[in-house]
Amino acid sequence: MNNFDIVTVGGAMRDIFFSTKEGKVVRDEKDPLCHQMIAFELGAKVYVDEVNFESGGGANNTAAGFSSLGLKTALLTRVGSDREGDGLIKDAQRHKVDTSFVEIDQKVSTGFTFILGLQGVKRAQTIFAYRGTSDILKIPKINFKTKWVYISSLSCPNWSNLLDRLFDLKKQGVKFAWNPSNVQLKAGAKKLSRWLQQTDVLILNEDETKELVFSAGQKIKGLKVRDLAKVAQKLGPKVMVVTVGKKGAYAADGNKVYFQKPWPSKVVNITGAGDSFAAGFVSSLFYQPDNLPRALLWGSKNSASVINFIGAQKGLLSKKQIVS
Ligand SMILES: Nc1ncnc2c1ncn2[C@@H]1O[C@H](COP(=O)(O)OP(=O)(O)OP(=O)(O)O)[C@@H](O)[C@H]1O
Ligand SMILES: [Mg+2]
Repeated sequence: MNNFDIVTVGGAMRDIFFSTKEGKVVRDEKDPLCHQMIAFELGAKVYVDEVNFESGGGANNTAAGFSSLGLKTALLTRVGSDREGDGLIKDAQRHKVDTSFVEIDQKVSTGFTFILGLQGVKRAQTIFAYRGTSDILKIPKINFKTKWVYISSLSCPNWSNLLDRLFDLKKQGVKFAWNPSNVQLKAGAKKLSRWLQQTDVLILNEDETKELVFSAGQKIKGLKVRDLAKVAQKLGPKVMVVTVGKKGAYAADGNKVYFQKPWPSKVVNITGAGDSFAAGFVSSLFYQPDNLPRALLWGSKNSASVINFIGAQKGLLSKKQIVS
């Protein structure tokens, strides 16, 4: 039977980055949900200055991240029987990720993310996502052993059933790290409770944490991130991680809240920040289970390195690089 350090579950996508000088940021003060938009001339041909074709998807990115940091890693995902699916599998294998559990769908095509960015305008990008096979995830018969499971954001309609099957591994002492998606957060803290109680590390950004805490009927107004992390930790996970983009990250374990400021980075593209942070954080805990300050440091270093490049997997650090 196969023995892994960690198995990641969730999406694998083809990420395509287009960068152009030609669009504009336009404002609509009257629309509360859409203050700012990227606009192009109707009917125009827009020239693109740079195209990047990268591997992406939460489970795929974190698998590459864990493997780079020396963990024996397997990827549980679904791709299409197409060129993109083949490419993603080959890329994962180049990262020494075990792909023998990757399912290949004969009908639905591999998921795509199209990231359209305006050159020279800070944070001006819009992401288009076609989830494809990432939305019809099925867990194959679990005939492997693993020390950890990392669940990336799931968007498939059967997610609740999937979580039940995965968390069943808790009986064998497997540890769980989880980065729920909006789909799960919308279900609310009450519905998520039975999985939260079994989660070793829950990783969310500030907005997502607020959504979770709010859905539990708790006040979020005026709460500092440090306190937000404390309140969220009480909803079940052993360790609650709240990332706050360029303001850093917090980790609460029920006794203390730790903070790490971001590692310096010349930010080129922030795609992959969350995934690389999670890979660094959980890998550190894999080697040193009780050292939260170091886990925060590894998360920050890994994400700072990835956002130096276009693509969610370029810049992922090795164990040697992250400890230096
Ligand atoms: N501009 C930045 N400069 C330095 N570090 C950053 C920056 N943005 C993000 N990071 C690092 O990445 C971590 C995770 O970022 P963030 O809080 O944006 O995650 P996220 O919202 O889950 O991202 P994603 O959109 O990738 O899911 C931060 O805690 C920080 O360490
Ligand atoms: Mg995220």
